[in-house]
Amino acid sequence: MNDLRYVNGEAYLDGISLKSIADQFGTPCYVYSRSTLAANYQAFDSAFLEPANSGLSHQICYAVKANSNLAILNLLQRLGSGFDLVSGGELERVLAAGGDPQKVIFSGVGKQDAEIETALGKNISCFNVESEAELARIQRIAQHTGKVAPIALRVNPDIDALTHPYISTGLKDNKFGLALTALADLRSTLKKMKNLKLIGLACHIGSQLVNPEPFDAALRCLHRLALEFLAAGFPLQHLNVGGGLGVRYRNENPPSRQDYVTLIQSRLSDLKLKIILEPGRSLVAEAGLLLTRVEYIKETAEKNFAVIDAAMNDLLRPALYHAWHDIIPVTASPAEVKTYDVVGPICESADCLGRDRRLRLQANDLLGILTAGAYGFCMSSNYNSRPRPAEVLIDGSKVQLIRRRETIKELYALEKIPGKYPLLPSLLPFLHAFRGGRG
Ligand code: LLP
Repeated sequence: MNDLRYVNGEAYLDGISLKSIADQFGTPCYVYSRSTLAANYQAFDSAFLEPANSGLSHQICYAVKANSNLAILNLLQRLGSGFDLVSGGELERVLAAGGDPQKVIFSGVGKQDAEIETALGKNISCFNVESEAELARIQRIAQHTGKVAPIALRVNPDIDALTHPYISTGLKDNKFGLALTALADLRSTLKKMKNLKLIGLACHIGSQLVNPEPFDAALRCLHRLALEFLAAGFPLQHLNVGGGLGVRYRNENPPSRQDYVTLIQSRLSDLKLKIILEPGRSLVAEAGLLLTRVEYIKETAEKNFAVIDAAMNDLLRPALYHAWHDIIPVTASPAEVKTYDVVGPICESADCLGRDRRLRLQANDLLGILTAGAYGFCMSSNYNSRPRPAEVLIDGSKVQLIRRRETIKELYALEKIPGKYPLLPSLLPFLHAFRGGRG
C-alpha cells in the first residue's frame, strides 16, 4: 500500500526523500502519507459498493483514538468519514477539524455528565451505551435538557478475539459492553425511558484482529440480537460492528478489507439495517512511520545496541504490548551488518523499539520505524521530560508540518513553584505566642 522505495540506497516515501524530511524537521518525527490514508479509506468504503455487497448502506466512523491529529481528522472527514470517539476532548477535536456531528458516535465506559451534555447539545448521531448506570445518566441529562438521545446498546458477547489481552474487549471479564444476560431486563427498562431512543446495537470485541472467526461469531451474535430487539418492537436503524481489523506488522495475515466487508454483508444484509464500522488502525497504521536517528552504537560482550533518538515515550507499543514494528534503514551505511537491539534513551529496560534487528549501522544514520501511524503519537508522553516529536504529512509533492515539535519550556509551562517562604505561615502562631509572652 505504501509507496516506500529506495533510490541509491536512500529511502523515499511517496517520492519524497525521508532524509530531506529529517534535515528539515529534525528527528524523531512522525511522517504520514496522505495517499496511503486516502487509499485505505477508499478501499474500505468501496468494498461496500462491490456488486455482491450492493444495497448495504454503511457509514465509516473512524476511531479517533488511533490518531487524532487535526489534519488527519480533517482529511478523513473530507473523504466522507464519520467519527467514533471516547471523550469530550475527542469531540472537540473532531469539531475543530470540521467533522459532522451527525456522523459522530460516542463510545466508552466512562462518559461524564459534561461530556454527555455537550454531545447532546451538538446533536451527535448516537451514544453507544455500555452500562445500565450510563443509560440512567443519559436519560436524566436528556430529560433535563428536553432532548431525546439516540442510543445504541454496546453488547459484550463474551467472545475471545484471539488478540493481545490488553486490547481484547469482548470477554465477559472485560469492562466493556452490556452482558447478553442483562438485555431482556434492559428492554423493559428502556421502554420506560422516554428521553432515549434505541436506534442500534453495537459490538467491538477487540483490536488487531487477524483471525476472522471471532469477528464472524460477533456478527452472528449481533444478527441474533437484532432479531430479538426487532421482534420486541424496537425499530433499530443500524448495527455497529466496531473496529478491530488488524494490519500486518510482521507476518500476520489479516483478512483483506474486501473479505472483511463481504463477511459483514453475508451475515447481516438480510436485516436491511445500516452498517456502521469503527476502524482505526486499519486506516492509519500503514500510513505512518517514525523517523529517527542513531545517536550511538554501543557494543558489549553480550549485545550490540543502537541507541536512537526516539524512545518508548514516542512509540509505546513495543514496550507495552511487546509489539513488533519493522525498522528499516533510511540512508545507506557502509557499516557491516550486525544484530542490534534498537533502544531509546529512556531509563527503563523496556525502552527497546526493536530486538535483534539485522542492520548496517553507524552513529548519525537514519532509521524508519514502520506501521506507526496508529496508536503512535496519540499514546506518546513526555516521560523523562522529552518533548513529543513533530508530525508531518506528505501530500503529493508537498511536506506539511501538521504538529510542530514541543519545546522543553512547554513541558513545564503549567507548573508552579509555590510561595517563596512556604514555612512562614505555619510559623506565625508561634511568633504571635512568643510576642504575647513578652507582654
Ligand atoms: N471501536 C472501539 C469501541 C474501540 O475500543 C476501538 C479501539 C476501536 C473501535 C478501533 O479499533 P481498531 O480498528 O483501531 O483496532 N493501543 C492499542 C489499541 C487499542 C484499541 C482500543 N480500542 C494498540 O496500540 O494496539
